[in-house]
Amino acid sequence: MARDGALFDRIGGDALRAVIVDFYDRIFVDPMIGFLFEGKDRQRLIDKEWELAARMLGADVRYTGRSMPAAHARVPILGGHFERRLQLLKNVLRDHAVDADVVAAWVEHTLALRSQVTGDAGSECDHDVAAARLVVDAASPEATAPPPPPIVKLGRRG
Ligand code: HEM
Repeated sequence: MARDGALFDRIGGDALRAVIVDFYDRIFVDPMIGFLFEGKDRQRLIDKEWELAARMLGADVRYTGRSMPAAHARVPILGGHFERRLQLLKNVLRDHAVDADVVAAWVEHTLALRSQVTGDAGSECDHDVAAARLVVDAASPEATAPPPPPIVKLGRRG
């Protein structure tokens, strides 16, 4: 299918890749969300994210990665994590002086996918919501470990 690649042409494939490499460099060391990427294949993430972004911007490129729900089914993503990733994306797009219309389309696309990667509608961090959507392998340590102790809310002393 012919696609209108006007937005893609405003950034170009090489600059798009440079943005995404920088994006994942920042994500992997980020104090708030870096831990979620520990042990993940950075090159694969870069390649798949490039395809997704290129396609979203109208390039005639096929996305060959997993669907968003499938890719994130084992990642306990809270609303705050989603917001943090979005902020890192905005920072990297700003630092690479990316065209304003490309930025707007990318941010809009990210927000449109929110419900496919986290159950939280905003920046809240509802662990019950995250646990409910999480797919845990029957054989994984999470599935066989005893449940964590209940969270005790500390009252004011004195
Ligand atoms: C709309 C926003 C998002 C988009 C477009 C996106 C995009 C992607 C893509 C393309 C992949 C690779 C899929 C594949 O391997 O086939 C992926 C995997 C992953 N994403 Fe996201 N992502 C988003 C949000 C998030 C958030 C908020 C987090 C956590 C803060 C996150 C954490 C991960 C992790 C840890 C993986 C690797 C999963 C694995 O291989 O086990 N993603 N994402």
